[in-house]
Amino acid sequence: MAIALSLCLATLAAWMALAPAATAATAFSPSFSAVNSTVAPAGLPPQAVFVNPQSFAVLGTNGSFRESATASTLNPTNTSAPFFQVFHPDFVTKILGLSASIRVVASNPGFAFAHEAPIWVPATDEVFFASNGGGALGFSDIDHNNQVAKISLGEVARAADASRSKTTPLNVTVTSLALPETVQMTNGGTGPFHGQLVLVNSGRGSLPSNLVLVDPASPSNTTVLLDNFYGRQFNSLNDVKIHKQTGLIYFTDSVYGYLNQFRSGPLLQPFVYLFDPTTGRVKVAADGFDKPNGIALSEDGKTAFVSDTGIINGVFGVNQTEPSTIYQYDIDQKSGVLTNRRVFAFVDSGVPDGIQIDAQGNVYSGCGDGVHVWDATGTLLGKFFLNTSGANMAFAGKGRLVIMAETAVYLAEVEAGGFDLSYP
Ligand SMILES: *[C@@H]1O[C@H](CO)[C@@H](O)[C@H](O)[C@H]1NC(C)=O
Ligand SMILES: *[C@@H]1O[C@H](CO)[C@@H](O)[C@H](O)[C@H]1NC(C)=O
Ligand SMILES: *[C@@H]1O[C@H](CO)[C@@H](O)[C@H](O)[C@H]1NC(C)=O
Ligand SMILES: *[C@@H]1O[C@H](CO)[C@@H](O)[C@H](O)[C@H]1NC(C)=O
Ligand SMILES: *[C@@H]1O[C@H](CO)[C@@H](O)[C@H](O)[C@H]1NC(C)=O
Ligand SMILES: *[C@@H]1O[C@H](CO)[C@@H](O)[C@H](O)[C@H]1NC(C)=O
Ligand SMILES: *[C@@H]1O[C@H](CO)[C@@H](O)[C@H](O)[C@H]1NC(C)=O
Repeated sequence: MAIALSLCLATLAAWMALAPAATAATAFSPSFSAVNSTVAPAGLPPQAVFVNPQSFAVLGTNGSFRESATASTLNPTNTSAPFFQVFHPDFVTKILGLSASIRVVASNPGFAFAHEAPIWVPATDEVFFASNGGGALGFSDIDHNNQVAKISLGEVARAADASRSKTTPLNVTVTSLALPETVQMTNGGTGPFHGQLVLVNSGRGSLPSNLVLVDPASPSNTTVLLDNFYGRQFNSLNDVKIHKQTGLIYFTDSVYGYLNQFRSGPLLQPFVYLFDPTTGRVKVAADGFDKPNGIALSEDGKTAFVSDTGIINGVFGVNQTEPSTIYQYDIDQKSGVLTNRRVFAFVDSGVPDGIQIDAQGNVYSGCGDGVHVWDATGTLLGKFFLNTSGANMAFAGKGRLVIMAETAVYLAEVEAGGFDLSYP
């Protein structure tokens, strides 16, 4: 009893020592921001609508509630996609600016040619990307590879000028790449790394999943950097980023090759891996996932974001109680592993697929109804609302966000910009 009491007193003393910190925490504000987030921003760009979160905080007894993340979207406006849903004034002041615009720049209603792996190559001002591997309108399966292609942003600019409009849909040339057999079911990309595209490929049938470098210039010379973990094939690599300070390559390995029926059952846990291309060494950087998917590393190399798209089970359907979540980590500066996992954001629509970070540290993810944007504290600022899935996106320098939306590529012209993802 006495021991219990002294422990109790010690706990109380420790708690009292912490009291000043608790007082400081009263600065905690539900808006997480200096501005009053319930007040509409002073101005809005033409394609934006302010949606005060208070306006749908209570749907009421007979409210029309959504039953799932995938069957419907939230759009409490009368505006048709594409447009900007502004949930917080900072979306306008910090991301969009007052003359933002968004439109389709390439489309093919019959082919999901623009799914993931967006890579901006500054030298030629082109954006590379991959078609959907194994999913709807992907025209790829265990017997058929998917496609890597590119568009020219110079051609987009010329077509935009000719259109004399900021909203008219454009349709620029999509040029596919002739890649070797080693590149199967590309799903993730980043770089350039020493001038080369970095692609992660899911593999197809018994053809291994791998990490490759591809020359962005014709004839697309390709070098395989890694296709196994100490002799064991990966399940189906999904996404990749380069750590700016060290040139180490982080990639996710998920189970979508199996769930979309072009790979056999998983034989490894779904991990985030860390690869050193200068030594060939590979190790696990994080575990504990359902389906790790997108990954992004902060510009200072200290923080990582990994999405878990657990609810999407490919041909086995959707399970609303699995993760649809972006986790945030510290990157251990000695070992490179991801530590201190915490929830950054859970998304209301579809899953958070690819993740990108802008030069101000805001976080973007491709979700079921378009691209969602959070500030560094995880407050949802707004959406590039497409009313359809936009799996990934890439900043092409400052002011241009190129969004992959399966059968279409969108260009949003905004004030925010990306940081340089290339290495060195
Ligand atoms: C924010 O503005 C609204 C509308 O003017 C006001 O009712 C509310 O009290 C303000 N909240 C804060 C925290 O200032
Ligand atoms: C909800 O709907 C029921 C049945 O139509 C109706 O009787 C009731 O008044 C409605 N409640 C509200 C708050 O609108
Ligand atoms: C949408 O339009 C309807 C019908 O004109 C109107 O009653 C409603 O208030 C509008 N909703 C919004 C959010 O503007
Ligand atoms: C979203 O898509 C659905 C289904 O195609 C359509 O009925 C609805 O009008 C669209 N909403 C907007 C805001 O574009
Ligand atoms: C855009 O051009 C491609 C290639 O010519 C064509 O397949 C596609 O249907 C066009 N998109 C639209 C919306 O017409
Ligand atoms: C691409 O590969 C071919 C065949 O190996 C080689 O002749 C050519 O020099 C390479 N091109 C570049 C730019 O590396
Ligand atoms: C959905 O996922 C949860 C959590 O993993 C699991 O307990 C449940 O059995 C799953 N439901 C179905 C229908 O598979």
